[in-house]
Amino acid sequence: MWGGRFASGPDAIMEEINASIDVDRHLYRQDIAASKAHAAMLAQQGIITADDAGTIVHGLDTILSEIERGAFDFKRALEDIHMNVEARLAELIGPAAGRLHTARSRNDQVATDFRLWVRDTIDQLDAALAGFQRALAEKALDHAGTVMPGLTHLQTAQPVTFGHHLLAYVEMAARDRGRFADARRRLNECPLGAAALAGTSFPLDRDMTARALGFDRPAANSLDAVSDRDFVLETLAAATLAAVHLSRLAEEIVIWTSPLTGLVRLSDRFTTGSSIMPQKRNPDAAELVRARTGRIAGALSALVMVMKGLPLAYQKDMQEDKEGAMDALAALSLSIAAMTGMVGDMVPDAARMKKAAGAGYATATDLADWLVRTLQMPFRNAHHVTGQIVAEAARQNLPLHRLPLAAMQAVEPKITDDVFAVLAVERSVKSRTSFGGTAPANVRAQARKWLKRLEKGR
Ligand code: ARG
Repeated sequence: MWGGRFASGPDAIMEEINASIDVDRHLYRQDIAASKAHAAMLAQQGIITADDAGTIVHGLDTILSEIERGAFDFKRALEDIHMNVEARLAELIGPAAGRLHTARSRNDQVATDFRLWVRDTIDQLDAALAGFQRALAEKALDHAGTVMPGLTHLQTAQPVTFGHHLLAYVEMAARDRGRFADARRRLNECPLGAAALAGTSFPLDRDMTARALGFDRPAANSLDAVSDRDFVLETLAAATLAAVHLSRLAEEIVIWTSPLTGLVRLSDRFTTGSSIMPQKRNPDAAELVRARTGRIAGALSALVMVMKGLPLAYQKDMQEDKEGAMDALAALSLSIAAMTGMVGDMVPDAARMKKAAGAGYATATDLADWLVRTLQMPFRNAHHVTGQIVAEAARQNLPLHRLPLAAMQAVEPKITDDVFAVLAVERSVKSRTSFGGTAPANVRAQARKWLKRLEKGR
């Protein structure tokens, strides 16, 4: 393809380090679409004949079907997808194939192909994240009133509902989708026509190719068009955050399904056994989601390292953008699917959750709030009084709601029988009606709001 000034072929090691076909073969669909758009534009502009363009497009369609049938012979000696396709086109249609590369370079070609590929992948991830949100919101609606311990420092803090907890992840996934949408908006400019780096002397219609490929506009600076990989970095950054969120939920599932807490059960569908310990039911899928986050964050940091020292314009280093990104985005896609499956599969043990929610004096804040509201005590004093009552309950080895009124009155004589109403965990969650709070009525409304929104595809 470029052998004019070369007398002999490359060393085997040169070929080995140079070839990207094992990775960029996945861009075949985008590569062929971009070539078809380019050929049609060249013909419209009178740069090649309509006959040649027709032959080229027909040949490209043949290649597409060969690849999809598994009948295409990818050659490492031809380096990459662009040259593999073009060489096969020459075999199929003869000399007209040589006209396709007019006013084009592999530099603007690969930038275009990979943008298209990342854009398609973002669309798939968005749909998958919406499905994940739906599974969470449905489970949240089922468990809007299921009380569980809310933790800070992994210590019992205040009772919350399981539904409320799950909806927290719906919010995170919404931000993830927003970040992918932002990345998609910025990436949607077409590099095609920037050629190697400087543009071209041929009278291109770059708006036409941009439109044909679904881009919003052609990229405005040819140097930037061929050397920008922000779209990969931004997408990997969004993917990293999404993976971090999935990993946190995975970690919670590991904790919840451990017999040490026993708060949630996963079925046979999302657990595995042990080859030696017959009693085991391991949450391997959750653990692997947690672990794959490392690969995704790793791909981001690897590409940041690749890009940080590169002068304009295209450098071969940039060929390294694809393998990590493809691996990371595939890992994210599988992780979303696994988490969606686990969310649908998991069954909370409501009785255990309720018991755990009441342990650890989780309603102590409710007692303090009662003192503020009923006795007009300043919150700081109420906090101190409650602390003394909790200490007394601990001395007597009793939960708060079992501590005799007399013992409370020994600390604060004005406390009355009414206080017991706020010490039950259900009462506690029911009272948290502030916007965004854990009250079952709030959770039900939020879950319904999300389900309606998701139905509309947002
Ligand atoms: N395989 C190359 C890549 O992925 C395509 C661009 C090659 N350009 C070049 N000037 N050698 O980056």
